[in-house]
Amino acid sequence: MIQVRNLSFSYTKQPFITGMSFSVSSGEIFGFLGPSGAGKSTLQKVLIGMLTAYQGSVVVNGVECKKRTRRFYEDIGVDFEFSTMYEKLTARENLRFFSSLYEKEPRPIEELLEMVGLEHDADKRVSDYSKGMKARLNFIKALLHDPVLLCLDEPTSGLDPANSRVMKNMILKEKARGKTILLTTHNMQDAAELCDRVAFIAGGKICALDSPHNLIMSKGAATVTYTWVEDGEHSANCPLKHISSDERLKRLIAENRLQSIHSSEPTLNDIFMDITGRTLL
Ligand SMILES: Nc1ncnc2c1ncn2[C@@H]1O[C@H](COP(=O)(O)OP(=O)(O)OP(=O)(O)O)[C@@H](O)[C@H]1O
Ligand SMILES: [Mg+2]
Repeated sequence: MIQVRNLSFSYTKQPFITGMSFSVSSGEIFGFLGPSGAGKSTLQKVLIGMLTAYQGSVVVNGVECKKRTRRFYEDIGVDFEFSTMYEKLTARENLRFFSSLYEKEPRPIEELLEMVGLEHDADKRVSDYSKGMKARLNFIKALLHDPVLLCLDEPTSGLDPANSRVMKNMILKEKARGKTILLTTHNMQDAAELCDRVAFIAGGKICALDSPHNLIMSKGAATVTYTWVEDGEHSANCPLKHISSDERLKRLIAENRLQSIHSSEPTLNDIFMDITGRTLL
């Protein structure tokens, strides 16, 4: 679905995105992770043909992005980082207007509103919507013309846990319907749960690209932390794979003296720190 070869882009004379290459297969959820200002939204804008002054080759759905025509957007749905609705219009009016821009028959508006629990607020002006309501409305706007590629820029940002769950389930549903999905997020749990592969972006480059599972397993094994009381409280760590040779742990288990024990795997943030020396958050 996407082939990027040796992409460079900058807003100024200073290099920003340099020498990026990657591909995204059809049906994949592909995540971009990186700290604020890393260039995730910029990269998404290149991929949707909004920023065309790039070097290298960016082919999306068979089209070199620089050379996109109006037809290109019939197959691409974008949920921008910031709300792109007309605030003075109602949700329903906005959706009607945006669906009129496409040649394709739109998906039924009522159904989309119901999917995100906005059916009772459809006739409210968008200016009277809360942040989370706007986020949900923005998401269904991207689905209106049933595109094959969805670009979602922080779709769960500002959502409460229940709405975030609704959104993630809808993203998985769209994947099940065969869509390719580009997802930018600061939320590592969301990335680990949703993405088939993620690209870590820092310093204008992709510094790692793999499945969340492989990235997590590539560095630092899971560790076990346990606590016990012996002249005060103590705690110790042991790599999970060496647990059977930790004599103290074996003794504490045999004597039934453990106060607590838990295992923890590194998170994507830990891996990002390992690779770049920076945190994702
Ligand atoms: N239109 C623009 N003109 C000039 N510079 C810009 C423009 N848009 C973004 N930038 C700059 O490019 C850099 C990357 O911005 P971008 O929005 O791509 O970051 P991001 O990784 O999406 O960050 P965040 O996680 O905060 O959304 C920032 O330094 C930003 O100021
Ligand atoms: Mg951004």
